[in-house]
Amino acid sequence: MDDGAIQLVDLKKRFGAQEVLRGVNLEIPRGKITVVIGRSGTGKSVLLKILMGLLRPDSGNILLGGQDMTKLGDSALLKMRNRFGMVFQNAALFDSMTIYENIAFPLREHERLKEKELKARVDAALASVGLLEHGHKDPHQLSGGMRKRAAVARALVRKPEFLLYDEPTTGLDPIMTAHVDELIRGTQDSTPGLTSLVISHDMQATLHIADKIAMLFEGQVIFEGTPDDVRTTDNPVVRQFVEGRLEGPIKV
Ligand SMILES: Nc1ncnc2c1ncn2[C@@H]1O[C@H](COP(=O)(O)OP(=O)(O)OP(=O)(O)O)[C@@H](O)[C@H]1O
Ligand SMILES: [Mg+2]
Repeated sequence: MDDGAIQLVDLKKRFGAQEVLRGVNLEIPRGKITVVIGRSGTGKSVLLKILMGLLRPDSGNILLGGQDMTKLGDSALLKMRNRFGMVFQNAALFDSMTIYENIAFPLREHERLKEKELKARVDAALASVGLLEHGHKDPHQLSGGMRKRAAVARALVRKPEFLLYDEPTTGLDPIMTAHVDELIRGTQDSTPGLTSLVISHDMQATLHIADKIAMLFEGQVIFEGTPDDVRTTDNPVVRQFVEGRLEGPIKV
């Protein structure tokens, strides 16, 4: 298998009596944007947390460059986590720090850099999302879309191989949504070797930015394909979701 791609094999996770993931199989190709879609509560965020090593699956494998993440001890898992950047749903910036300091934070935590090198890294990250002039501001002085961009810069500043986005456009207006979509696509295209995984229930955005789409339903990936495959499939679950219909196999 290609190093860098992630392969999820028969992943299972339950919370008490609730089986959330019932055997998820998915290949996340290197250097592409994969979007996982599915209804609210189907386990998309749980899947991301498992990938980030924040939650342990009950069984199954996460294969990454010949290693099985599920077999790693805590310290090896922490090291593995360094290869991932995460853009949280609500941006999750520190309110008490400027945008510059928010982005410098992961570098200060994990890398011993001279202040000058640190500034070069932070400025490059700020510039890559068009915020170079705004580093001195506090998060509340930015618009929602700018905060989202700052969150992307913070996730990127340590040059992760994998960039995970949880619902990056939920709650944004249509123009801001288009803007964030461009940001995800642009970041992908300007970062060689980056592998992006986006969780979304925004079909419009998904069809626009995805190289690959996987649909999670009742704890399993029931469909995988390109945006064109999604547009043309007869799969009744996918059709109902894409068209937002009440009638169909997905029960409200
Ligand atoms: N730590 C936890 N303990 C118990 N149950 C949990 C935990 N985390 C998630 N769950 C349950 O797992 C299910 C899936 O949750 P998850 O957050 O992954 O949904 P989701 O697909 O991300 O939904 P949304 O689109 O609304 O964000 C939910 O029923 C949730 O209550
Ligand atoms: Mg979620």
